[in-house]
Amino acid sequence: MHKRNEAVLKIRDVSKIYKTKGAFFGSKGKDVTALNRISLDIFKGEIFGLVGESGSGKTTAGRLIVSLEEANSGKIFLDGREIVALRGRARKEFRRKVQMIFQDPYQSLNPQRSIYDTVSEPLKIHGMGNASTRKDLARETLQSVGLSPPDDFLFRYPHRLSGGQRQRVAIARAMILNPTFVISDEPTSMLDASISAQIFNILLDMRNRLGVTQMFITHSLAAARYLCDRVAVIYRGNLMEVGPAEEVIRNPKHPYTQALLDAVPKFGHDRDARRYGSLLTKDRDVEEDVGCAFFPRCAASDEDRCGCNTPGLSPLSDGHFVAFFLLEATHEA
Ligand SMILES: Nc1ncnc2c1ncn2[C@@H]1O[C@H](COP(=O)(O)OP(=O)(O)O)[C@@H](O)[C@H]1O
Ligand SMILES: [Mg+2]
Repeated sequence: MHKRNEAVLKIRDVSKIYKTKGAFFGSKGKDVTALNRISLDIFKGEIFGLVGESGSGKTTAGRLIVSLEEANSGKIFLDGREIVALRGRARKEFRRKVQMIFQDPYQSLNPQRSIYDTVSEPLKIHGMGNASTRKDLARETLQSVGLSPPDDFLFRYPHRLSGGQRQRVAIARAMILNPTFVISDEPTSMLDASISAQIFNILLDMRNRLGVTQMFITHSLAAARYLCDRVAVIYRGNLMEVGPAEEVIRNPKHPYTQALLDAVPKFGHDRDARRYGSLLTKDRDVEEDVGCAFFPRCAASDEDRCGCNTPGLSPLSDGHFVAFFLLEATHEA
């Protein structure tokens, strides 16, 4: 397996707050905290899973890392350099090295452009190769994502492809730039299970054959277990638990992780079974942002501690961290 040597990506205390408009002209909107003081390291050659329900801030985290948006506070470093400070050639190189694959392959491809145009466009933008080497590289890349023989696909248009084939094209478009860090944002949520498995295997191949470090965004712990070396569980913009994927899934310590696992029948842990019912409420206003984010939903919560303080991630064992005040209490029970 990979060596956990150096952090390729470091996220330090990053927050993102969206200011939304009010419903009426001139009315004041409310702020939504999409990410609340997130810190993470992603190591070279690993697949890191960011797991959480819809609205928990996963896509926001991806968009900040690829620099489609800026954080309100905190810093993100790639290979030791702060990404918002990159200028000129360094910024362009960052745009090549870091790629994101989006959730919806029906929206991410331009219907007017052939597969060849779509896949080779990034090479043109980055001034890489000439017409003939671009075509060879496009063929090679289509082949590597299982669109084979590539000449059957080069001059097709997206409307003639299935959802799975479109997502392969989107992966090829990212991979043709030879990136070192790739984020896949729920890349199979629009696809059938059997097609999803094929897409997962392309991502594994990217890691195993090319050593591409990855962040895999998912709402599914089962998918994360299949693909990921380590996972972070996120709830309403807060990291709840981080650790090796197997360890977090077999030995979840945060009640929210346990509740997520409870929701997946084959992961059911009878001994620790707890039922929380619905896990999400409406977005909280930032002014009310005190206490643990999971406090309103947590059966283990303690009014004084959990309602007033926000637990940080603390280490439990090798590489396993949890943001939970009541660990001792629940374990004695
Ligand atoms: N552009 C935006 N403007 C306002 N609110 C946003 C915007 N993007 C995301 N949000 C809000 O931020 C929170 C996190 O969203 P998102 O990162 O898309 O979550 P996820 O990908 O986990 O479903 C949600 O409450 C969402 O409504
Ligand atoms: Mg999302």
